[in-house]
Amino acid sequence: MTYKVGIITASDKGSIGERVDLSGPAIEKIINKFQDFKVEKYIMLADDINLLSNEMKNMADKNNIDLILTTGGTGFSKRDVTPEATLSVIEKRAPGIPEAMRSISLKITPRAMLSRAEAGIRGNTLIINLPGSPKAIEETLEYIIPSVKHGLDILQGNDSNCAR
Ligand code: MTE
Repeated sequence: MTYKVGIITASDKGSIGERVDLSGPAIEKIINKFQDFKVEKYIMLADDINLLSNEMKNMADKNNIDLILTTGGTGFSKRDVTPEATLSVIEKRAPGIPEAMRSISLKITPRAMLSRAEAGIRGNTLIINLPGSPKAIEETLEYIIPSVKHGLDILQGNDSNCAR
């Protein structure tokens, strides 16, 4: 079973070509280490709640993406709306995933407490907000992926054995 991954980079500057996106490629590099996941779609959008939520719906409902990973827009800047876009499209929250990311990140920097990242389920799709910087992505994504795979197995009925 290979899970399809969609990456959404939320960046005002990136979306108008004023900044090269390093975070989307950082996600792809880590995902490529895991044989159960394959990046199928990658898009960069402005920090706009409607653009972000519409793309999440598009990936989940039309492209049958299993795992949507967002990067950027989870901090305290006035333009940061990725968690709000996520909450507007999910049916169930999965708070343990951002809690785990914050927990491991707090060992590296107390500023991890400023992450407002969310995660949740829409249909068969899991949506997770990752932090914005490539460094923070490296510090969190590899850690969560094995448990995320187990969660997707359960969500989609591929495995229900929690024994480990
Ligand atoms: N998490 C990790 N692992 N490493 C980091 O350096 N930076 C934090 C936090 N999470 C950081 C981290 C900082 S400084 C902020 S402001 C928040 O993520 C939100 O970042 P974002 O808006 O780039 O998503």
